[in-house]
Order: sequence, then structure tokens, then C-alpha cells
Amino acid sequence: MASNIFAMKISGLESGAGRIMIRRSSLDELPGLMAISQAAIYAARWTEQQWRDIFHTQNPPRLAWTAWEVIGSLDGPTLAPTGANAAAAVPSATGAADSSGPRAASPRAVGFLVAQCGGAEWELENMAVLPAVRRRGAGLALLVALLAEARTRGAERILLEVRPSNQAAICLYGQGGFELLARRLGYYRDPVEDALIMVHVL
Ligand SMILES: CC(C)(COP(=O)(O)OP(=O)(O)OC[C@H]1O[C@@H](n2cnc3c(N)ncnc32)[C@H](O)[C@@H]1OP(=O)(O)O)[C@@H](O)C(=O)NCCC(=O)NCCS
Repeated sequence: MASNIFAMKISGLESGAGRIMIRRSSLDELPGLMAISQAAIYAARWTEQQWRDIFHTQNPPRLAWTAWEVIGSLDGPTLAPTGANAAAAVPSATGAADSSGPRAASPRAVGFLVAQCGGAEWELENMAVLPAVRRRGAGLALLVALLAEARTRGAERILLEVRPSNQAAICLYGQGGFELLARRLGYYRDPVEDALIMVHVL
């Protein structure tokens, strides 16, 4: 589905030029998504069962997206993510997918976003990007994917909660068009902190 695929070129800081590709997540990506979450102190700390519920239950209905970093020549052949998403590989210049040769690209999961998606009011529940890949556009690309899908499905607004100390996320959400709606006192635990409620009206 076209609305599931967002690709943007980014300038590589450590590993040369690369692309960030956003795709709908699948269950076989779970270990990678959990590893990204565990590397981010501000990400929601979900158990494996909570992660599995994203894909197994419709109560509440949820959507998840994975950010893939494609390292290698933009002109060369590329490899698809493995598993259920393999059919929608990053297209190569020739239309072929090939792991051989020096120009082959190797995608890896570097970020995710999970949202509740029922009815008019959606909720951004959790997101994170690997520390080494931050400030390269993956977080914003994930947000753009969420906003596009919410618009397509007729949502009216998206809500989220964030710690006031999490300036990176607050700046990202502001860049994505979220505005401060309210402050919930003492909402977070471990450590105790207020929550800022932010909203994006679609
Ligand atoms: C918040 C987070 C997802 C941002 O991901 P990211 O890939 O680095 O974000 P992007 O590169 O797309 O940044 C887009 C914009 O957000 C803002 N931003 C992102 N990180 C920022 C930071 N550390 N300080 C200030 N602004 C920041 C900037 O405006 C940035 O644009 P710019 O780089 O052109 O200035 C990432 O820092 C993260 O994983 N944090 C830990 C987990 C977390 O906080 N999750 C949210 C829980 S509510």
C-alpha cells in the first residue's frame, strides 16, 4: 500500500550516504523493535507480551511503523527487510534485488512508532530511534507516516504524553505540528514527573 512507504534521503554522519525508509512493522521484527526500545531511556517500557499484543489484538487497535536505514550506494542494488515486508523492498535502480557486489545495501531497523488508531482520536503511544542514528530525520519520518495514515483514515486528532524533561521529543513533536494541550501532575513513575499532553489537530 503506497501510504505505508515513505523514503527520504539523509546525509550519513558515520557510514556514508543512506536512506531512511518507513514501513509498517510486522511481528517478525519484534526483537529489533524491542532492542531499539531498550536503548532509549524515554521509551515506554513494554514487556514482550505487550509488544506482541500490538500485532495480535484489536482491542485497542494499533498500528506500528519501523524506520529502516539503508546503507550503501543509492544507485546500487538493495536488499529488502526480511520477513513479511520482503516483498516491498527498497527498489534498486534496475528493479532487481541483489546481495552481491560492493554496492549492495544492507537495511537495518533503527526506529519505531506505535499508535492507537481507533476512531476520531488517535494516540501516539511509543516511539524511539537508536541513539547513533538520531538527528538524521528518522523520528520526523515516522511522525509523517503516522500523520498521513491518520488523515487517510479520517482521524480528527492525535494525542500523546511526554515528560517535560524530554526536550528532544518535545522539539520533534513541535516540528511535527503538535501543540501543548495540558499538564498532568505526577503522571509518570520511576522517576516521578508530570506529563505534558500534546495534540495535533488534523
Ligand atoms: C525523540 C526521538 C525519537 C527523535 O528522533 P530523531 O530521529 O533523532 O529525530 P529527527 O532527526 O527526525 O529530528 C527532527 C527534529 O526534531 C527536533 N529534535 C530531535 N532531537 C532533538 C534534540 N536532541 N534536541 C533538540 N531538538 C531535537 C529537531 O527540530 C529536529 O530537526 P533538526 O535535526 O533539523 O534540528 C529520539 O531522540 C529518541 O529516540 N529519544 C528517546 C525515546 C523517546 O524520547 N521517545 C519519545 C517518548 S514520548
